[in-house]
Order: sequence, then structure tokens, then C-alpha cells
Amino acid sequence: MKISNNTILITGGTSGIGRGLAEALHKKNNKVIIAGRRKNLLDEITAKNPGMEGIEIDVSDQKQIEKFAATVKSKYPELNVLINNAGITTLEDWDNDNVDVSAIHNLIATNISAVIGLTAALLPQLKKNSNPAVITTTSGLAFIPLAIAPTYSATKAFLHSWLQSLRYQLRDSGVEILELAPPYVATEFGGEQQANDPRAMPLNEYVSEVMQILESGKMPDGEILVERVKDFRIAERNGSYSNFFEELNKMFSNH
Ligand SMILES: NC(=O)c1ccc[n+]([C@@H]2O[C@H](COP(=O)([O-])OP(=O)(O)OC[C@H]3O[C@@H](n4cnc5c(N)ncnc54)[C@H](OP(=O)(O)O)[C@@H]3O)[C@@H](O)[C@H]2O)c1
Repeated sequence: MKISNNTILITGGTSGIGRGLAEALHKKNNKVIIAGRRKNLLDEITAKNPGMEGIEIDVSDQKQIEKFAATVKSKYPELNVLINNAGITTLEDWDNDNVDVSAIHNLIATNISAVIGLTAALLPQLKKNSNPAVITTTSGLAFIPLAIAPTYSATKAFLHSWLQSLRYQLRDSGVEILELAPPYVATEFGGEQQANDPRAMPLNEYVSEVMQILESGKMPDGEILVERVKDFRIAERNGSYSNFFEELNKMFSNH
């Protein structure tokens, strides 16, 4: 992926990793369009970053996605990069006999169906332009599940697998299919306490390491992996999976 002179749509651009990347890419001379539900933040961020634009959307609503994609295509025919970054998480206690299935359906709609819907709708447009790329945010938890967040971890494992197939199918199309798998990062993703958790990677450090990786072009197998997430990625390969699984889940346990 080129680092400058792209037209980039980033979902989940109103906070955390998405906002950080949107602002860093804006500084690198890209046209950046951020999307999210919180209109006040879209307005605030675009005002702070002249030239950046914002579009309101709830990606969990498939009907909104179709309308949104049509708007994007007509307003930004030069769009060449899609960053599927919006995501949510839920904690589930399957020992409690009272699992909130509707929250899980919403999680799947946001983390999986929205990514599929938006990618399918915008891929033909991206292909028409030069240096097309799709970046999708997964997680270190795609490789080792966090037991208190079973469906969340599984949505990211789903995306990891799905992206491998897309990359293979599109290998001669010119579209780069990239996976951004963050480690635990200090955002408000899991609530206010995550943003202040000393165990989490500071957001500015994460964004700057990702930008360095993008600039270097060194993304083996299409994966954008900062140093802190590599242990997760290679655990299965190097025989440390069982110990890593135990330790991770002891550290973040409800019991
Ligand atoms: N932080 C971590 O430790 C971590 C680790 C691994 C992976 N990730 C992944 O990184 C991505 C970004 O998370 P973050 O840490 O930056 O958390 P965040 O600050 O909570 O950001 C989540 C973003 O997703 C957007 N979003 C959520 N539901 C949406 C919906 N229905 N429609 C439209 N936009 C929606 C939010 O915007 P609105 O609220 O304005 O809609 C927000 O901009 C997620 O995919 C997450 O799974 C995070």
C-alpha cells in the first residue's frame, strides 16, 4: 500500500485506533473519510483536521451499509483504500445460564456482517483505481481466544480466516488484502479502565509502529503485526499455545 495520495475510508474513525490511524494518514497527505455513529465526534475530528470528511453510519445495520456504500461511491469515485476497523466487544458468562444472545447477534453484525457487506459493496470501486487495498482490523485474540469474550475472539478468528481466502482469490487483481491485528491497546474499547490500563500498549505508540510498518512495506502474508502482538501470532507454531492460553486467561478472568 502506498503511504500517501490515497483516498481512504476508515470505519470506526471516531475513536481509539481508527481515529489515531485516520489522523496519522491525514498528516501523510491522504484524503481521509472517517465513519461512525457519533456525529459530535465526526464533526469535532473533521474540524480539527481540515480536509478530512466524516459520514455517519451504524454499520450493524445492513440496510444503512447499502445506502452508505452508494453515497461513498458517488461522492468519492477515486476511493482506493477501505479500512474495516469498526468493532465492538461483549463479555459473556456461559456458566451463568443467562447469555444475552441478542447482544451476541449485534456483535456478529458489527464485527463480521458489516465487514463482509462493506467490502463486497466497495471492492468493485476500489479495483477501478490505482493501488487498491483493503485493511481489516482483527486482533491478537484471533490467534488465542480470551475466554471471557468468546464470540468477540471468534469474530476476529473468522476475519483472519476469511482474509486469507480473499487474499488468495484476489492475488492477481492488484487489490492488497491486509490484516491489522492489534495487541491490547489503551483505548476505551473495553471501557474506561482499558484506556488507563498500564498493561495496554499506549495508543500513540501503537499508531506510530503501524505507520512505520506501512511505510516499510514489510507485511509478510499481508499481516500488519507490531512487536507486542507477535507472541500471540506465533504461539500455535512455536509450541507455546497452551501455556500462553492459560496465562492470558488467568490474567483476564472473571472467576
Ligand atoms: N483496543 C484494543 O485493545 C484492541 C485490540 C485488538 C483489536 N482491536 C480492534 O480495534 C478496532 C478499534 O477498536 P478501538 O480499540 O479503537 O476501540 P474504540 O475506541 O471503542 O473504537 C471503536 C470504533 O468502532 C466504531 N463502531 C462501533 N460500533 C459501530 C457501529 N455499529 N457502527 C459504526 N461504527 C461503530 C466506534 O464509533 P462510534 O461509536 O462513533 O460508532 C469507534 O470509532 C476494533 O475492531 C477492535 O476489535 C482493539
